[in-house]
Amino acid sequence: MAEKPHMNLAVIGHIDHGKSTLVGRLMYDTGAVPAHIIEKFKKEAAEIGKASFAFAWVMDTLKEERDRGITIDIAHKRFDTDKFYFTVVDCPGHRDFVKNMITGASQADAAILTVAASDSVMAQTKEHIFLSKTLGINQLIIAINKMDMVKYDEKRYNEVVADVSKILQMVGFKPKEIPFIPVSAIEGDNIKEASANTPWYKGPSILGALNLLKEPVIPTGLPLRIPIQDAYTISGIGTVPVGRVETGVMKAGAAVMFEPGHHAGEVKSIEMHHEVVAEAKPGDNIGFNVRGINKGDVRRGDVCGDAKHPPTVADEFTAQIVVLQHPSAITAGYTPVFHCHTSQTACTILSLDKKLDPRTGETKEENPTFIKAGDAAIVTIKPTKPFVIENIKEIPQLGRFAIRDMGQTIAAGMCIGVKTK
Ligand code: GTP
Ligand code: MG
Repeated sequence: MAEKPHMNLAVIGHIDHGKSTLVGRLMYDTGAVPAHIIEKFKKEAAEIGKASFAFAWVMDTLKEERDRGITIDIAHKRFDTDKFYFTVVDCPGHRDFVKNMITGASQADAAILTVAASDSVMAQTKEHIFLSKTLGINQLIIAINKMDMVKYDEKRYNEVVADVSKILQMVGFKPKEIPFIPVSAIEGDNIKEASANTPWYKGPSILGALNLLKEPVIPTGLPLRIPIQDAYTISGIGTVPVGRVETGVMKAGAAVMFEPGHHAGEVKSIEMHHEVVAEAKPGDNIGFNVRGINKGDVRRGDVCGDAKHPPTVADEFTAQIVVLQHPSAITAGYTPVFHCHTSQTACTILSLDKKLDPRTGETKEENPTFIKAGDAAIVTIKPTKPFVIENIKEIPQLGRFAIRDMGQTIAAGMCIGVKTK
């Protein structure tokens, strides 16, 4: 049987807007979670006074998550529609866990943004929209959730659509091409089928909109790149790095190189969803066993590539960035943390080269002394320790990053030139 095309889907949005509940509901409505499990969660959640979180518990499996009623870490689950099989990543909305959201979103081909109809656009609604755009997510579905709390009111729906559209437009999405679906994740309205509670809504359900997503172009022709999420040492087996194939194809037997450590190895076997596979393609989350690699040679943030075309280690790089927020102004010498693929590396902004018009990309000022929220700029960056980044023109999947400091996303950007040692 031919496997359906695979899509990585992130669910994003402000805290408590119902992301985990929506994912739990999708898993339930597609048969990925049986009814008796939801019943069991309902009972257990009720015992700690959190009955409404039964669907969220499908995703929120950590004790701390269940006690606090929030998502902390990202979790991957699989569900199927007629057309695709999805790996869904439920992202945390809490502002303290934006770095986990970035990891989740950086793996996604498409995203569902949940916006509670009762709240409309909030801080992390904006931040997540901005980040998903800069992290390269081009396909969005907006779930206007908790419609039951606003009595399925069409007027309220239209207000929220207008609020969200404004933000989408600001960062370069086209609201006209994006479905805005009024839903109740708890009650199940417009998740699988059109709901009788919203006779005024004529668009697709969530599952309908998921089926309408465009199949991502699979970058099998690019050099192999697998950002490492973790590396395990398993006795009797050896080193097993884990990560998502971003570009290229990995076959058992391949000669690979891990950068920036410059450790060479040979792939012995590849596993996906606990099954051995002969090769892995972009989008596949895999664990692979490597010969020639010692414990400690490979860690989170490293990148595995083809031995013949190893990942690029930047001594310095040039980037185009957009400043989302900063309490004062950014000047040369600033050293925040860059989140790029799975790596988190402190990097110094060596120089501010050009200030750009964020809408047109035209140069507004050469060598500005500072940049602030809302500005776009070309800057030169020096990592404080070696790290892998690729030119956006060559390997876009490894050319994007977010800049974070003081618990906030300060800016996001893309690499437009790399200087190696
Ligand atoms: P974080 O992961 O912490 O950002 O939250 P979340 O977006 O995953 O929200 P979650 O699914 O945990 O839901 C938060 C609360 O909103 C829970 O009490 C849910 O029962 C409630 N909720 C979610 N969806 C709906 C809905 O459609 N209607 C109503 N009335 N409540 C909802
Ligand atoms: Mg959640």
